[in-house]
Amino acid sequence: MTSNLQAYRGSLLHFLADPAFSAQSHDWFEDGLLIVADGKVQAAGDYAALHATLPPGAVVHDYSGKLLMPGFIDTHLHYPQTDMIASPSAGLLPWLETYTFPSERQFEDSHHAANVADFFLDELLRCGTTTAMVYCTVHPQSVDAFFAAAEQRNLRMVAGKVMMDRNCPDFLRDTAETSARDTEALIQRWHKRGRALYAITPRFAPTSTEAQLQLAGELALAYPDTFIQTHVSENEAECAWVRELFPNSRSYIDVYDSYGMMRPRAMYGHCIWLDERDRQRMAETRSAAAICPTSNLFLGSGLFDFERADAAGVPLSLATDVGGGTSFSMLQTMNEAYKVARLKGSYLPALRMFYLATLGAARAMQLEGTVGSFVQGAEADFIVIDPQATPLLQRRTARVNSLEELLFALALLGDDRAIAATYAAGQQVHVRETT
Ligand code: GUN
Ligand code: ZN
Repeated sequence: MTSNLQAYRGSLLHFLADPAFSAQSHDWFEDGLLIVADGKVQAAGDYAALHATLPPGAVVHDYSGKLLMPGFIDTHLHYPQTDMIASPSAGLLPWLETYTFPSERQFEDSHHAANVADFFLDELLRCGTTTAMVYCTVHPQSVDAFFAAAEQRNLRMVAGKVMMDRNCPDFLRDTAETSARDTEALIQRWHKRGRALYAITPRFAPTSTEAQLQLAGELALAYPDTFIQTHVSENEAECAWVRELFPNSRSYIDVYDSYGMMRPRAMYGHCIWLDERDRQRMAETRSAAAICPTSNLFLGSGLFDFERADAAGVPLSLATDVGGGTSFSMLQTMNEAYKVARLKGSYLPALRMFYLATLGAARAMQLEGTVGSFVQGAEADFIVIDPQATPLLQRRTARVNSLEELLFALALLGDDRAIAATYAAGQQVHVRETT
């Protein structure tokens, strides 16, 4: 078992519980050691204690002065929107029409899809994100291209083919039957192949007929360990549209509920305009929210209500929502999440934000023990954060008085430059170039 053992020394942080609900939420070893064997975490703890357990001659990679933590998990983003990130538009629906749909059309071409998938994954790794829940396009070949690129890098990725059979351009439209057939074939081809996991992906209720939602729900029942991902209650105009399209549903999320799509491993993007019953339903079905602050501010969609979500016990996670989101960086996503919480009158400690981007997301995805922490046996996806990455970070972090202050400065001032290195299943998949 120790044939492929590697050890990493640095300040080590990982979470054991949600800091919002537990006083003993994390392990922090200022001088820590992470021991990795065969791509899995063998031990994580205090350097002085663990160093003695290493076999003679073991190599210790020295990241002293830097932080080792589990790789970030981004629970909602669109790889086909990489090339149109930061496109100006007055709100969600015109943005979809003007930029998103024409960009997604190009993914009919497998070569284009492969090219974008390569760039997208490398960009995630540069930002320290090692697991993501990713929307492809309506084209099955866009899913093949994505998972092939993820497999080359041995990444734990969740993705799926967008299902949409109405209210979209003809060139992006499937049918209820073809979408279900293609989705099932993709599940059989990719779900649990290596580190790949499949997400059944109806884009959002307005672009699916009832027949398509029905078939998506049947697939979700037939393949209970697949994921489900969609959008819900992002924008007020969208919510009004859903009320028109589904007059018999109690609420927007109730549309999905009535087709059996609220269950563990269901990830709902945005969740801004929910009511109390919606939140209760999410909590009782263990359906999770992907909170997308950079996107919500950019598109003017609204402010996520952390306090009400926590009061109901909704499983929470953070997400970039690229290309509605404006950054691939989960640090920049925390920066904006913090401000969204403030504008709603609540307060998000940095510890909570780092929890949500690691163990919290893993829990929301029912992947605790697999990714998101350094518990023994977890997959060794981890990042090396450099608190001195920029002159300003160096100056600010030299003056912090607590772990909370250090993490807060990293969240507010950090971005891809703060990620010195990224490892997936124990292999280095990114190292920051220093000039
Ligand atoms: N709602 C439906 N599709 C999309 C999308 O691509 N991005 C965002 N932000 N919202 C959506
Ligand atoms: Zn989205």
